Amino acid sequence: MNQDELKKAAARAALAELAALPPHSLIGIGTGSTVDHFIDALAGSGTRIRGAVSSSEASSERLAAHGIPLVRLDDAETLPLYIDGADEIDHGFNMIKGGGGALTREKIIAAAAQRFICICDASKRVATLGRFPLPVEVIPMARVQVAREIVRLTGGEARWREGFITDNGNCILDIHGLAIADPRALESDLNQIAGVVSNGLFARRGADVLLLAAAERVWRGERQSSAASSR
Ligand code: 5RP
Repeated sequence: MNQDELKKAAARAALAELAALPPHSLIGIGTGSTVDHFIDALAGSGTRIRGAVSSSEASSERLAAHGIPLVRLDDAETLPLYIDGADEIDHGFNMIKGGGGALTREKIIAAAAQRFICICDASKRVATLGRFPLPVEVIPMARVQVAREIVRLTGGEARWREGFITDNGNCILDIHGLAIADPRALESDLNQIAGVVSNGLFARRGADVLLLAAAERVWRGERQSSAASSR
């Protein structure tokens, strides 16, 4: 199986997670090619949900094209499940996300959800986060100042994702050259820089369940409760 087929397998496996939900539940939907496969699988599955809270314009368009109702987060009294991909995930289910630039809305919806289900192919599993450049969403007028602060804080290289504007009208700096020993601490420290909107470390709110597709099967794992309760 190639990488795209593995993404599709992880996405299909996520349908089973919906079976435990009461009929007509709302779910949160992330962004990216793996999530696109999930949206397509959901639409074709006959699974009855009331609607979806979407993390990006791209996912909203795809959901709408399938006739899946979009619901604003403000109108979602409970959100039992959030389904999203990742750029990297470690053994504690901490993640780097935001390769598609939707990290801020993803983080907001993940924070509101009771359960975060991460779907990805086995290439995303790492021992230490940081080989994938860590995205940081930044207010445009603060870009250069924030880049300097990031270099001072992390020792990494902050590269502007030129020509890319987030759905929130901001820019992205990608931090290259990291090996992240303490994801929770770095997530907090980056958020202290004036001008940072959010960063792509999902450690304070990591995944609860991982569906990881490898050639032989889709592996399902749950985060240890001690890690979950320290959130
Ligand atoms: C988008 C994300 C995605 O989840 C991440 O980039 C993985 O994408 P893909 O499923 O295309 O590999 O965080 O902001």
